[in-house]
Amino acid sequence: MLYKLYVVAALLGAVCLVATSAGKPNLDCQAVEDRITENIPVSKIKGSNDGVYGYSKKLEALMNFQIKTEMGAFYEYTNMAAYFHRFDMDLPGFHRLFKEAAEEELKHAHLFMDYQNKRGGTVQLMALASPGKAKWPSGLDALHDALALERSVTHEILCLHKLASDLGDQHAVDFLETNFIPEQYDGMKDLATKIATLERISKNQQDYGLAEFHFDKTLQK
Ligand SMILES: [Fe+2]
Repeated sequence: MLYKLYVVAALLGAVCLVATSAGKPNLDCQAVEDRITENIPVSKIKGSNDGVYGYSKKLEALMNFQIKTEMGAFYEYTNMAAYFHRFDMDLPGFHRLFKEAAEEELKHAHLFMDYQNKRGGTVQLMALASPGKAKWPSGLDALHDALALERSVTHEILCLHKLASDLGDQHAVDFLETNFIPEQYDGMKDLATKIATLERISKNQQDYGLAEFHFDKTLQK
């Protein structure tokens, strides 16, 4: 009898574990934080970040990486926008979508730069990598890449938020919650919706290009 109770308890425990872990974001922030030690030792971070009000050097360094991430996203979207503007692609809607996304990312980078200065930190701009791809087989492929990019940016912002929260830095927490976290989720939802719509309308058509042509018209409005 006792053995049966143990089995039932173990099963319930396993079910609870699955239920509580399912659907949670995978917030492994080690790789995000390791960028500091790999690239800039905390002791070498320049700037007098005690000048305004208790701003952690670690958070200051990660804010600089976030500026780089936002600038990198600007670079990626600019590359996509230029590609879909080619004479042999001619998808003005996709061009516009990615151009506007690039402009948003640049605004984000500047928001982080303003914040760095507001807190008495020092903006340290870093080298940007070339965009990952030179071309895409279709607009749908580019949308998938855009969603993957936004997921990765969201992960980094959530890690920044976790660190700010662990440090008890309420102002940085509020800055991220007000300006970035809701927008990241809105952006991911928008891209996921566009992917689902384009997949749905092209699914039963032999000619994907026709579906893409019509979908592009909706992006031009
Ligand atoms: Fe962004």
